[in-house]
Amino acid sequence: MSTPNSPGGRHAPKPRGPLSGRRTPLRRAFAETLANVNRVLDWLPIGRWLHRRIRRSLVMPELQLQSKQIGKGLDGLRIAFVSDVHAGSFLDENDLCEIFGRIADARPDLVLFGGDLVNTRERELLLFRKPLQMLRPRYGMFAVPGNHDHFWGPDIGLWTAFLQDQGVTVLLNQGQRIEHDGASLWLCGVDDLTEGQPDLPRALAGRRHGEPTVLLSHHPDFFFEAAAVDINLTLAGHTHGGQIRVRGKAPLHHSRFGYEQGWFRENDCCLYVGRGVGVTVLPIRIDAPPEIPMITLRSGVPTSAHLGAIGEASYAADVPAGSSLG
Ligand SMILES: [Fe+2]
Repeated sequence: MSTPNSPGGRHAPKPRGPLSGRRTPLRRAFAETLANVNRVLDWLPIGRWLHRRIRRSLVMPELQLQSKQIGKGLDGLRIAFVSDVHAGSFLDENDLCEIFGRIADARPDLVLFGGDLVNTRERELLLFRKPLQMLRPRYGMFAVPGNHDHFWGPDIGLWTAFLQDQGVTVLLNQGQRIEHDGASLWLCGVDDLTEGQPDLPRALAGRRHGEPTVLLSHHPDFFFEAAAVDINLTLAGHTHGGQIRVRGKAPLHHSRFGYEQGWFRENDCCLYVGRGVGVTVLPIRIDAPPEIPMITLRSGVPTSAHLGAIGEASYAADVPAGSSLG
């Protein structure tokens, strides 16, 4: 049965764990301790050396999403998906300018920010002022907040105001239509599942029947809700691909559904979980290099051969419709 917050009859489960849930003094103290460990490691020469290695390993994989719902006018639209920058931890303004220069060179039509722009201080946002001026995609820049963006500020107001002032539209439970040559796309975003109040019905208000839809959600577990209402593509981050992987598995789990990195699919709905750009706590990435995926939308019926080529890791999301882990 549908509820006001789950138009498809499913509600994304809230994350659990020591870094999720209510902002108790104990949780705040734990987060501050981890942030201080992070800052000490950043300051040590070994930390800076490790950060340099991570920056050099940044990849920009070319991916495609094909759907018969995507009109010919938007065939070839290129999206740069930038998540989990965690600026200030090891990325200063010059590093960000270098990375954003690579994004500009890739000539995206849309730049989408998937949350966690800052690491442990609200003022780390200011590091984005100059880099953002380097990007002028034809259909604009859009963002949703992540758990760090919420947690390290008293509220999300300054984060939102800063980005809007820099020409980035914040899709906080909102959507907007992208149109070109008779084709349209509903681009929308929801608030963070851990720290915010995601509201999918509000994000979809205004969507036309059968309109192709791209959803931005920092937390990948929101796909559980999105896949129930025919959202063609959900773009998420948060997991960093596990950040440290051993024998293909991440010891730390960030997704209750196992959405750690890459492509997942449920019926005709796809999820791509980006590994993100930065790191948090430890300046280490093992078998999970940073990435900025470049996703090209294609008009037409996807073939099985095509689906096999769309991502580095295609899985069927094994979630029974109508089930709930909440
Ligand atoms: Fe996150």
